[in-house]
Amino acid sequence: MDIKSIVSKLTLEEKASLCSGADSWHTKPIPRLSIPSAVLSDGPHGLRKEITDSEGQRAGTVPAVCFPTGGAVACSFDRSLIRRMGEALGEECQAEHVHVILGPAANIKRSPLCGRNFEYLSEDPYLAGEMAASHIQGVESQGVGTSLKHFAANNQETRRMTVSAEIDERTLREIYLSGFETAVKKGKPTTLMCSYNKINGVYSSENKKLLTDILREEWGFEGLVMSDWGAVNRRPDGVLAGLDLEMPSSHGINDAEIVKAVKEGRIREEDVDIVAGRVLKLVYDSIAREKEGITYNKEEHHALARKIAGESMVLLKNENAVLPLEAGKKIAFIGKFAEEPRYQGGGSSHINSYKVTGALEAVKDICPVSYAQGYILDEDRTDENLLAEAVKTAQEADVAVIFAGLPDSFESEGYDRTHMRMPECQNQLIEAICKVQKHVVVVLQNGSPVEMPWADKVEGILESYLGGQAVGGAQVDILFGLVNPSGRLAETLPLKLSDNPSYLNFPGENDKVEYKEGIFVGYRYYDKKDMEVLYPFGYGLSYTTFEYSGLKADTSEITDTETIRVSVTVKNTGNRAGKEVVQLYVGSLPGSEKAAIRPVRELKGFEKIELQPGESKEVTFILDKRSFAYYNSELPGWYVEDGAYEISVGKSSRELVASLSVTVHPSAPLRPRYTMESAVGDLLKNEKARSRFEAFYTKLFPGRESKEEILMAEALLQQVPVHSICSFHPNITLEELEKIVEEANG
Ligand code: BGC
Repeated sequence: MDIKSIVSKLTLEEKASLCSGADSWHTKPIPRLSIPSAVLSDGPHGLRKEITDSEGQRAGTVPAVCFPTGGAVACSFDRSLIRRMGEALGEECQAEHVHVILGPAANIKRSPLCGRNFEYLSEDPYLAGEMAASHIQGVESQGVGTSLKHFAANNQETRRMTVSAEIDERTLREIYLSGFETAVKKGKPTTLMCSYNKINGVYSSENKKLLTDILREEWGFEGLVMSDWGAVNRRPDGVLAGLDLEMPSSHGINDAEIVKAVKEGRIREEDVDIVAGRVLKLVYDSIAREKEGITYNKEEHHALARKIAGESMVLLKNENAVLPLEAGKKIAFIGKFAEEPRYQGGGSSHINSYKVTGALEAVKDICPVSYAQGYILDEDRTDENLLAEAVKTAQEADVAVIFAGLPDSFESEGYDRTHMRMPECQNQLIEAICKVQKHVVVVLQNGSPVEMPWADKVEGILESYLGGQAVGGAQVDILFGLVNPSGRLAETLPLKLSDNPSYLNFPGENDKVEYKEGIFVGYRYYDKKDMEVLYPFGYGLSYTTFEYSGLKADTSEITDTETIRVSVTVKNTGNRAGKEVVQLYVGSLPGSEKAAIRPVRELKGFEKIELQPGESKEVTFILDKRSFAYYNSELPGWYVEDGAYEISVGKSSRELVASLSVTVHPSAPLRPRYTMESAVGDLLKNEKARSRFEAFYTKLFPGRESKEEILMAEALLQQVPVHSICSFHPNITLEELEKIVEEANG
């Protein structure tokens, strides 16, 4: 399709009209030139296509399959699994004539309180980026577009449409943008959705640095940028910044603003041509990708949702091998969530699930269980009758499985939590049952971390997150060992809320939230502070055991333009087949600390492998510059400091089983610009300057002869700015010092 030639046929008003939606889910058609619309629908973990009645009024959404939410699937650490989920979503979109499904949502989990954490992937940008990229690849492989969202720094719901996220450049690049960067570069999404909030005072929807300089020019994004629903502030500024499509619609108001801005010379008509052209490209590409006659099998997708949930749940505790359960024993299922599972979150991602399977229903295929409701959903208060009945049921069984977690109202799009507690009635239920039953397993269903005051008293804990409509089947699969648990935490579970690094600055004051913890988000913080956590990032148990051996690298020294290949052999040493998530972290080699402040270690690779009992496999990772680099804001750019780095592999961020060291040299060393205000200490790092200064030492340190005396004097001198030397040493002239600075700058 020759987009340029279509654009040339449009009037200014028509071009401006393309820059906003016709309604919530369609781009504007232009009947005069038979230009059709593209159809958008929410995601991210299921298709939420709105339907209208004969009068055009909203009449709900089509029945679809609700897959596990982002927060759950991220725990699978499995690129091919989330890709498969994306393919299924793509099939549903083709069948329902949807061109773009909105998602994945790749914002970082900065605080456990964020109401949308259930949709978000991880506290770690590497994991979030890799999983988002695979989700995108899956959907796009079916000829359906994605919309990577919410770009960027939408890490809270409180005041999400007015708040400014105040973030320093390095933190922005390393933590809040790099997941998006991976998803854009590897996933190549058809569209991207900007966030509601401001970043450092500028709305994302009119943020040229974000939408053009970084996204298009640095990362090479070639798709369309749309606004989040109602995220537009000044539309003409958005055109200049690179916002192509305003959603849902401005009812003509902002289209007129664009026309006015062109007429008043504030923006050029060519600027409008560019954004309108991108909307047209989306429309025509979408239509070209349509597939005729696609249907999908809902039962197959339900089974897939069950498989994905099973591979994502995280077994947190399994003392005395309480799990897997034996079907012959007397088993009690307790808690309303067994009957009515919580499996998705509230807001724009809410799916009209065509069916839902709870654990109580799924377990019928395996063995009889006794059941007691235990508590009333959405209530904090204990119902004494339900409690007594549940305690009795638990007491009479050999093992009690309690289904607990967060009711819908506790977390949702649109607001944040204010605490991390579960409803009091559920905590009391667990405590009461632990008093009468030794073998207690808690199965959790929640979108983000909860405090577990009873964690030491129960034998088993299975974290299901919000596991999609087939969650009950997946829980039963794991509880009875039909599936060997292989999920790993995509976030740290802190002991308490106040341990979280954002605690003092979440959700901010008025319309400002300062990200004062900087790059120390999630495990980067807990590890640096050597803090105890409830369960660390990357953690999760299995019913089998794995042994690592033979960690090796193909070289011990590289420059940052080269790559290094690291491999390790993993063996299943237990007697069940199982999957292991091999994690690779990079940090500074102890004793070789760098000048830049860095986390102790950062995830830079992961692979999920399946192993039969006794089987071994070699896992290989390729590391490149970004595996070792930090973002140097002064450069500005990614920079690898010269020196030794430690590469560790293991089962979690806190259970590293082998490590080796590698030396990395920057291909273009930093060349600082010295001035008369530079500290002498910095100049002493420059060889030329050092030898000139050393020649002065008799003048600078008269009477000090021993090596120790000179070292002490030099330590003091290091703190002094160059120009101040004259104040202490009148025998050294300003001209002499200026010459040193000039020479050091080369
Ligand atoms: C949400 C987006 C969603 C959009 C359309 C917004 O409120 O933030 O994630 O895609 O609505 O429903």
